[in-house]
Amino acid sequence: MSDTPRHVIAVRGLTKSYGATSVLKGVDFSVARGEVHALLGGNGAGKSTMIRIITGAASKNDGEIRFFDSTGTERSESAGRAKVAVVHQELALLPHLTVAENIALPHHRKGARLFRRTVAARQAFDALRMIDQDFAATSLHRLVGSLSLHEGQMVEIARALSSGAELILLDEPTANLTALETERLFAVLRRLTRENGLSVVFVSHRMKEIRQIANVCTIIRDGRTVVDRQPMDQLTDVGIIEKMGQVAASHAAERAPPSAAKFSATLGTDRISIAEAGFKLELLPGTIIGVAGAPAGPAALIQSLTGAARTKRWTVAHAGWPDRLRSPRNAARLGAGFVTGDRSHKGILHSLPIIDNVMASRRIVRGTAIAGGSEGAECLDLLKALKVKAASVWDLPSTLSGGTQQKLLLARWLNVPSRLLVLEEPTRGVDIGTKREIYQLIRQMAASGTVIVWWSTENVELLEVCDRVVAFDTEGRCAGVLERDDFSEEKLVTLTGMAA
Ligand SMILES: Nc1ncnc2c1ncn2[C@@H]1O[C@H](COP(=O)(O)OP(=O)(O)OP(=O)(O)O)[C@@H](O)[C@H]1O
Ligand SMILES: [Mg+2]
Repeated sequence: MSDTPRHVIAVRGLTKSYGATSVLKGVDFSVARGEVHALLGGNGAGKSTMIRIITGAASKNDGEIRFFDSTGTERSESAGRAKVAVVHQELALLPHLTVAENIALPHHRKGARLFRRTVAARQAFDALRMIDQDFAATSLHRLVGSLSLHEGQMVEIARALSSGAELILLDEPTANLTALETERLFAVLRRLTRENGLSVVFVSHRMKEIRQIANVCTIIRDGRTVVDRQPMDQLTDVGIIEKMGQVAASHAAERAPPSAAKFSATLGTDRISIAEAGFKLELLPGTIIGVAGAPAGPAALIQSLTGAARTKRWTVAHAGWPDRLRSPRNAARLGAGFVTGDRSHKGILHSLPIIDNVMASRRIVRGTAIAGGSEGAECLDLLKALKVKAASVWDLPSTLSGGTQQKLLLARWLNVPSRLLVLEEPTRGVDIGTKREIYQLIRQMAASGTVIVWWSTENVELLEVCDRVVAFDTEGRCAGVLERDDFSEEKLVTLTGMAA
């Protein structure tokens, strides 16, 4: 389409390389006023890179970026950028400042000499209230460092919403949100696009959400635009997935699944029981148990299972284990693995190369600190099972895309025989094609005798893969257990008290 004045941004022929790696090879992308535009592509397609170039956080090699004002006249790049707000894929908040300060600070960059606390608090409150009234009422003066991942995500989004921007770029904003929070966010976005003419660029790997919120989409693949501004209702799910260069679900089953079995050893047959006051679950080896609902309940359970608990609400019992798992290291040595949901702060070892990130768990379990001779080959095998393309295993994780970094965290446990593996949102940011392969790997680990406890905010994936799902309500209480024969999205919604 031509650059009509209705556009807020038009990107033409954008190119970007990192060293010898050519990431963007001439991408076209334009966004019209008042639309929600899905920017789609597999892991590593270049979505976040383009977003960083648009906001000025990364430089381009070639191509043009034009911004337009409300009358359709062209703005300079710097004037245009002032009207763009972004929520990056990895949270970028200042941990030592309060929620209110984090939200209001960027608005005080220019002009304001004194940062007025009362004004900041009011601005922050108004912004947060749009997504969560209770959170707005209780969180303003908390330090951001004390927030959970999903609370931090809401602060980031509120900051973007309150910025007065004409264009908001949201790079997987819902990855840390519950279904209810996502629903509220979407309601706000619909209102702002309709009433204020806000334009939104929305990146997500969740097809259901993309359908709910986006009117139009652009798909990039291998550094080029393969679908340019198509209305969503002209594309089928399978069509979109194929354009991204991935295999749709119905075809995926026909392909040979990657093998985790060769990494596993035979495990005992003793069950693991987990209990809190008035509630007990007996988990046989090989059970895949889903955990659904608002984060407070699952977080308490997961802390107990991984040896990180400060409360004694949950107990974990297994032959040969002490009454309480003392620490995550203790848990790992006893065969209780953990994939954290907070990949950027707690999961990825940013200053160590990919190989150290992938081998971390195995070294802890074996008690060896130094890389062994066969590690290079093993690491490559694991990366292959998860379709990670890295130029070298000695590169830093920061050279990989967000979804690809997520795969490193799972790879860590694929070659460690575990009795228990706790997964917090293991497919967060992973593209549709690879998600199915991860489900397959999880099934295979269970088949080798590992008990899998899997927390996800995406109910559909739990219902697809798990044997049972434990649902927590919004107060953090255990609301019930659904057996496979009983699975339905409606029942899960009722138990968790959250709209899907
Ligand atoms: N600093 C860097 N150095 C080298 N390569 C990089 C760097 N940053 C990104 N890349 C590469 O650029 C490509 C695109 O990455 P980008 O993060 O834009 O992907 P993405 O589309 O956002 O993927 P995802 O869905 O996983 O978030 C990837 O192949 C990645 O490895
Ligand atoms: Mg990305």
